[in-house]
Amino acid sequence: MNILDIIEKKKNKLQLTNSEIAYFVNGYTKGEIPDYQISSLLMAIRLNGMSDDEIFALTDSMLHSGDIMDMSEIGGCIVDKHSTGGVGDSTTLALAPILACCGVFVAKMSGRGLGFTGGTIDKLESIPGFDTSLSEKEFFRVVKKVGCCVIGQTANLAPADKKLYALRDVTGTVDSIPLICGSIMSKKLASGSDTILLDVKYGSGAFMRDEHEALALAEKMVKIGTMAGKSIGALITDMEQPLSDHVGNSLEIVGIIEVLKGKHNRLYDELKEVCVRLLTLTPLYKDKAAAETAFQQAIDSGKALKKFAEMVAAQGGDSSYILHPEKFVLGTREAVLAERSGYVTTMHAADIGRAVTALGGGRLTKKDTIDHSVGVVMKVHIGDKVKVGDTLCEIYHNNGKGLKEAYSMLQQSILIGESKPATHKIAYAFVNKDGTELY
Ligand code: URA
Repeated sequence: MNILDIIEKKKNKLQLTNSEIAYFVNGYTKGEIPDYQISSLLMAIRLNGMSDDEIFALTDSMLHSGDIMDMSEIGGCIVDKHSTGGVGDSTTLALAPILACCGVFVAKMSGRGLGFTGGTIDKLESIPGFDTSLSEKEFFRVVKKVGCCVIGQTANLAPADKKLYALRDVTGTVDSIPLICGSIMSKKLASGSDTILLDVKYGSGAFMRDEHEALALAEKMVKIGTMAGKSIGALITDMEQPLSDHVGNSLEIVGIIEVLKGKHNRLYDELKEVCVRLLTLTPLYKDKAAAETAFQQAIDSGKALKKFAEMVAAQGGDSSYILHPEKFVLGTREAVLAERSGYVTTMHAADIGRAVTALGGGRLTKKDTIDHSVGVVMKVHIGDKVKVGDTLCEIYHNNGKGLKEAYSMLQQSILIGESKPATHKIAYAFVNKDGTELY
């Protein structure tokens, strides 16, 4: 077997065998096949696609390139949720304590933000003392004791993806459903949960620009997860505007606390949808009504907020910040005002994320440090009526750093027109092994 024949085969739209796929994944991970040959193969895959069997073989080879977490010592039902990423997407952090109150375990490894998307680990680190780098032993101990724990990736999970993703990023081959599917599913399957809910986002703040593309990706990932023996589902959700009104690290924690105290907004609606769908994928909840009741009780009883504080304390953080969010040190406020009257028709959500990065709240390279105190609080949503001079959003800045740039980016990313636009529901569809349900 040799890499040139494999490239030729894919160039000619032929199906690769399992052993050919394992050959190139292993060869590249070990540094035996050079970047230029894998770049060529990735482009052939990007242009000519892969069958479900090929995608499964790709996922399986990437999954076996590193460690596979064994969480059996935790016992009980362990669930996982994965978002394809967006702006103001703080779902994971609010969801973990809610799910723990509903009787399932959440042992979650999350990432940092890069570019316009925020990262769960960065948000958690805005809580003084919070430790996101627990050892595996400590991680399991907290999950068993509290019911939920969120840390950065510790184990050597799917190292093939790390290398392949970095190469895709610079060769124009990120936007390929087989490659995205292999990338996400290899990491999900390596992280050891029984039940997985994928939150596939579409819109101006997401990878997938429209709901049809997102649905196609979701269907593929559910198929691969089902073939791997997992109980898996996917929601296709709207990212045409920031999910939480709070965008930025400390601010997003403040936003989560408001929702855990019962505030109803878009983040609440999304949490409910994700939580109910995830619970009904487990053997513990037979129907949506029971799952909805459990979700509601977790919030209304105040237990989910207490559970969040408990998780923070168990991971070394100062839980008084959760009970008294006014303790978070935030930047100086500056309102962005509407320059004309009309309806908010469009938001360029990715640019809202980029404005937060300009303020210092995100990073452009992995080495950048971030300022947790800055961000943006949205005061309007798509479809709202506004008058000249109304506040569209508030910037939280630190000594004016990036303020001018962020102000202009925000004004250009919140568009006002004459007629009221159609608004999107929070979820477009749900996919599981039985098929696709449109909302
Ligand atoms: N997220 C991933 O982890 N991989 C991709 O390829 C795209 C999004």
